[in-house]
Amino acid sequence: SWTMVNIVEESIEAVRAQVGDKRAICGLSGGVDSAVAAALVQRAIGSRLTCVFVDHGLLRKGEAEQVEKDFVAATGVDLKVVDAADRFLGALEGVTDPETKRKIIGREFIRVFEEAAREVVEEHGEAVEFLVQGTLYPDVVESGGGTGAANIKSHHNVGGLPEDLQFSLVEPLRTLFKDEVRRLGEELGLPAEIVWRQPFPGPGLGIRIIGAVTRDRLEVLREADAIAREELTRAGLDRDIWQFPVVLLADVRSVGVQGDGRTYGHPVVLRPVTSEDAMTADWARLPYDVLQRMSTRITNEVAEVNRVVVDITSKPPGTIEWE
Ligand code: XMP
Repeated sequence: SWTMVNIVEESIEAVRAQVGDKRAICGLSGGVDSAVAAALVQRAIGSRLTCVFVDHGLLRKGEAEQVEKDFVAATGVDLKVVDAADRFLGALEGVTDPETKRKIIGREFIRVFEEAAREVVEEHGEAVEFLVQGTLYPDVVESGGGTGAANIKSHHNVGGLPEDLQFSLVEPLRTLFKDEVRRLGEELGLPAEIVWRQPFPGPGLGIRIIGAVTRDRLEVLREADAIAREELTRAGLDRDIWQFPVVLLADVRSVGVQGDGRTYGHPVVLRPVTSEDAMTADWARLPYDVLQRMSTRITNEVAEVNRVVVDITSKPPGTIEWE
């Protein structure tokens, strides 16, 4: 629509006015906010923007490729990818406590981003003065209020950087709500998978494995999660569901039977919820036939999983995530 075109044009002008002929850097998470912010700034200052994608190895199936291939193809953005999966998995080894997992992931994220930012400076032989962030209007309001929600987001925002890596912030989405950011993303030609991606926690699948995080467990969860998402999409229900965690109970085993054999595998939990703002949520009443297809496919196609359960707890008292 013409209003979106206006927003695009005005935002591009504002970014140009702010950044001038200096350089900027932007961390991509795979989510819509950072993607739209980066695409917008790319339109404004072109190759003076470098995006950094820290692949922590905790994303869902296909999501790293979405950033590395589809996003770059759609925007022409200059992207630096850091494959840091080994490092994150090493740091997470044996860790089961949810808050400890979050702290470790947040800490490693900042360290890896810092290293990448230094490399960008060296490669261009020029200081990077600006850091682009996909802060939305509700984030601005939340941090003003100093609420827990702003806290939750803190590891997304690259806070606490050392002095030689101090940036001025460029936040082109500061006045926008999520639905406006999505429309902006469409206007900028971003892939639908990115524009319509449901909220996904920064620590990723790391907090959807109940128990220690390992490469094998991630592989199992990734497959189960991909099947659930595929069937939700096939049923045309993507936009009715706020979020759909699939959780691997990695330390729990349950007995099953397959063919003439007894199995001793792991349960996965389906946690589809409806919500307005994630502060409260209700369990989604997915049609039985859709749940049936998810259950059959997951137990048939993911050897380690022999049981699928559905979480029917609202928030409160349950949270959306299990950790
Ligand atoms: P809960 O599980 O508390 O989650 O109902 C509310 C919303 O926040 C997301 N979430 C996180 N997002 N880092 C994030 O970036 C985190 O550590 C984190 N923990 C929960 C969750 O996915 C939901 O959208």
